[in-house]
Amino acid sequence: MTTKTRQILVTSALPYANGSIHIGHLVEYIQTDIWVRFQKMQGHQCTYVCADDAHGTPIMLRAQSEGITPEVLIAATDKEHRADFAEFNVDFDNFHSTHSEENREIVETIYKRLRDAGHIEQRSIKQAYDPEKEMFLPDRFIKGTCPKCGAEDQYGDNCEVCGATYAPTDLKNPVSAISGATPIEKESEHYFFKLADFEPMLREWIKGGHTQDAIGNKVSEWFESGLQSWDISRDAPYFGFEIPDAQGKFFYVWLDAPMGYMASFKNLCDKRDDLNFDDYWKVDSKHEVYHFIGKDIAYFHTLFWPAVLSGSNYRTPTAVFCHGFLTVNGQKMSKSRGTFIKARTYLDNLNPEYLRYYFAAKLGNGIDDLDLNLDDFILRVNSDLVGKVVNIASRCAGYIKKKCDGQLSATCSEPELYQSFVHAGDKIAELFEQREFSHAVREIMALADKANQYIDEQKPWALAKEEGKEQQVQDIYSTGVNLFRVLMTYLKPVLPAMAEATESFLNIDAMNWSDISEPLTGHEINKFKPLMTRVEQEKVDALVEASKEDLKQEHHKTERKATIKKVDKKIEPIADEIAFDDFAKIDLRIAKIIKAEHVEGADKLLRLTLDIGNETRNVFAGIKSAYQPEDLEGKHTVMVANLAPRKMRFGVSEGMVLAAGPGGEDLWILEPHDGAKPGMRVK
Ligand code: MSP
Ligand code: ZN
Repeated sequence: MTTKTRQILVTSALPYANGSIHIGHLVEYIQTDIWVRFQKMQGHQCTYVCADDAHGTPIMLRAQSEGITPEVLIAATDKEHRADFAEFNVDFDNFHSTHSEENREIVETIYKRLRDAGHIEQRSIKQAYDPEKEMFLPDRFIKGTCPKCGAEDQYGDNCEVCGATYAPTDLKNPVSAISGATPIEKESEHYFFKLADFEPMLREWIKGGHTQDAIGNKVSEWFESGLQSWDISRDAPYFGFEIPDAQGKFFYVWLDAPMGYMASFKNLCDKRDDLNFDDYWKVDSKHEVYHFIGKDIAYFHTLFWPAVLSGSNYRTPTAVFCHGFLTVNGQKMSKSRGTFIKARTYLDNLNPEYLRYYFAAKLGNGIDDLDLNLDDFILRVNSDLVGKVVNIASRCAGYIKKKCDGQLSATCSEPELYQSFVHAGDKIAELFEQREFSHAVREIMALADKANQYIDEQKPWALAKEEGKEQQVQDIYSTGVNLFRVLMTYLKPVLPAMAEATESFLNIDAMNWSDISEPLTGHEINKFKPLMTRVEQEKVDALVEASKEDLKQEHHKTERKATIKKVDKKIEPIADEIAFDDFAKIDLRIAKIIKAEHVEGADKLLRLTLDIGNETRNVFAGIKSAYQPEDLEGKHTVMVANLAPRKMRFGVSEGMVLAAGPGGEDLWILEPHDGAKPGMRVK
């Protein structure tokens, strides 16, 4: 075992801020989290940072279609992502955002250094432009007829029917997926990063073994096809950082995303005395920096990123670790089959530690895809964790608690057996270090078999019936408990929650790799509570069904988007004229929604608690089909404050909130500008 303390900074790829975390993503976050937890258990200073990837066209458009600002969208996603990760026990030391001041500063610094060193060039390019929406269209926002096979409604870069790849200009009858208008070609000035300047540096870097072999080979192929300059700018409107000295031009999301790693770390350093940003990022840093990523984003991390860092006088990563993609039941995750499983839907149905274990049992250090086979998942978790590991503790704990007052024997009766378990830890540690988790898990399960075998052979339950064998029985069960402790120490990076439950059962401090060298003797343990229950088939079925439901809800949302356009065109006629006095009678006030809740038994209503300055009001609003309660809380809106209270089936409604739209899902509550305070009169 190493004694030198290492300084290690670890990242996972930054999830996009316009979507939910799903089990495919979780392969990566769980893989990284296991590795980080392992390093921390070795006593190293290991720091794990991540962030939401908040910029770009899809996020801007999604916010527009929901009628909110990108800032509101990314704040909501940030909350959702944090909650998902926390419940899967993915324990970031910091989770930040690329839309942050730290990142803006880092991006500008890096850009200026690259520019001043001559690595940025400018040239005018022609691109598809949506004349109605007045914006340039990324390839995926252009649709048309495939030039090869004639399939309709294909995206701008490839055909899903025949697999052809092409330029958006090759599409027949192209239309903008945003407005439906026919795109025109328009010229504009773009900024490019001269990647070819870094070819010698990158060739050296790849030779230095900073990537897996398979990725190194891929990169060599990229060298062969030539390193093109990289377009790092986008025209307004764009949600991102504006390029200094280039009004109306923004940094492309993929330029500022990896810098988000540094920004998140910077944000953490500002809160912690024991971490120094420059120590990790200066050009000659001896500290270690690792990026865990999926193989789809290797190009960005093994070419652009090291080049950008080197060109701006920062250190390059110690290594980039790529993993493969998740399939479920042998196929790509599919919404209609119910195998496109969101983190939240999983959490609603199953224990997150099952998935952590299953992924660990499947993950090696290569880039092969891995399959979550749901039948195998049930078998594997039940037979390994419940049948083998937990079984050891449950066999031994009862006797110790009941017959020995919870006391383990004063000496270890099987020092050799115990030491063989401790020695196995060196190999297991090496396997964790090498990210060979499936191999590590195999070794641990072999030890679990050995522990169970020992108890089987000793037959303590039979000895317990004989007179005068109490000490021997206590010794056997104590050995069992000690072997269990060693196993749970090895499994702790994978199963942090179960390890914590084990710590309280064994009545010990947080388990670390180094404390297992001695067994627990003359030590009192607590009452055994089941540390993990079996995976039930019904719960897995329910998860698949719920994932199909998620799909329906999404359909709902897309349909809703489609109807927004229709509504635009269908405006209700103006009502009969009224006198000014009639209008003046209505007392409209700014109201802050301090609480929004579902009303049991009502399918259209939400109960709102409104703050209107010097009082609060209870109002039932028929906006349930258009809003989730949690999306309303904290918002300001407008209410009719002098409407006579109305008794409804669910209680008294003390006013009305104002909303626009024909009803159903097409309903938008009025939201006054920032600065309007609860209670202000609306005139
Ligand atoms: N925002 C970029 C990353 C920027 S890093 C500076 C991105 N985001 S993502 O949300 O699409 O993906 C985040 C990570 O999850 C990526 O590493 C990606 O490879 C990984 N995965 C997404 N789907 C996956 C599977 N189905 N299986 C395994 N990993 C998957 O890319
Ligand atoms: Zn085609």
